[in-house]
Amino acid sequence: MRILGIESSCDETAAAVYDDASGLLSNVVSSQVAVHGAYGGVVPELASREHLKSIVPVVGKALSDAATGQGAIDGIAVTAGPGLIGSLLVGLCFAKSLSFAWGKPLYGADHLEAHVYAVFLESDVPFPYIALLVSGGHTSLFRVEGWGEMNFLGGTRDDAAGEAFDKAAKMMGFPYPGGVAVDRAGRQGDPARFHFPRARLSRDSADFSFSGLKTALRTFLASPSGAAARVEDVAASFQEAVADVLVGKAIEAAERERVPRLVLAGGVSANSRLRELAAQRGSAAGIATFLPSKALCTDNAAMVALLGARRLSAGVFSGPELSAYAASRFGR
Ligand code: KG4
Ligand code: ZN
Repeated sequence: MRILGIESSCDETAAAVYDDASGLLSNVVSSQVAVHGAYGGVVPELASREHLKSIVPVVGKALSDAATGQGAIDGIAVTAGPGLIGSLLVGLCFAKSLSFAWGKPLYGADHLEAHVYAVFLESDVPFPYIALLVSGGHTSLFRVEGWGEMNFLGGTRDDAAGEAFDKAAKMMGFPYPGGVAVDRAGRQGDPARFHFPRARLSRDSADFSFSGLKTALRTFLASPSGAAARVEDVAASFQEAVADVLVGKAIEAAERERVPRLVLAGGVSANSRLRELAAQRGSAAGIATFLPSKALCTDNAAMVALLGARRLSAGVFSGPELSAYAASRFGR
């Protein structure tokens, strides 16, 4: 089965072609960083307008890179939510029109599910596994039993990890998008130079909290020692605090659930320190850790096409009433 995937939930317009028999045939991502950079974050109205400009060329390139077209495509998968409604509607309306015009089945993919199963583009992970989904909007732990069977174990009570990275980056004077900039600077710094607080909540809770860490960073930066600190050391120490809590909670969840497999997913799982720490502590705890390549962690349509291929081949599809949704359907 050959599926065209389309993703437009936030500030990336993406399209990809995935084929059950031959794997990923194309993966195109058009970033809007240049447009939103001036505002220090994503401006929803501008994001929708950019999607409108990019959707046709991006889908065209995904088809031509895959050397395929209407005749060989068996179905269309599109992100239906959660995300920015205006952005989602561009991809969704385009996918619906294409499905109608080409007479091909449509699958409305959940963006969080797509992230959590993206790992299958590269590895055949046995079920069940624990997924740590860390993105700009979500920070959650799931026990994944099979395709379409994700059980929510816990999530953030305030900021998402990506949001914390982006806000911290702004405080440290890095341009948008902040997460990557903190990662880059952090690699040149000493992670043990400053100690930032880790919100541990109770041991049997799989919830997270990052708002205290954000406040601690703000207070530190306003203090004389903060003003004199090397930004690389601050970035490394901040990143260490986030990665420490994420990996600690994920491993605790794997141990509590007696599931010796951990999968990282979402944009923040592209963070080099988080990847390193997850691999180290996972192996020390006897937990196999799966880290998708960075391009499959951040937003992409390959994960949407893959999920569409699995669901459509299982006979699950969406009707013309499919609509976009803003909020998560999986707890927090
Ligand atoms: O999954 P994603 O691309 O979009 C959402 O679904 O939200 O995640 C975006 C988030 C942003 O907050 C971005 O700053 C963060 O992922 N991010 C990173 C890195 N790359 C992306 N955070 C830390 N280190 C990175 N290398
Ligand atoms: Zn995402």
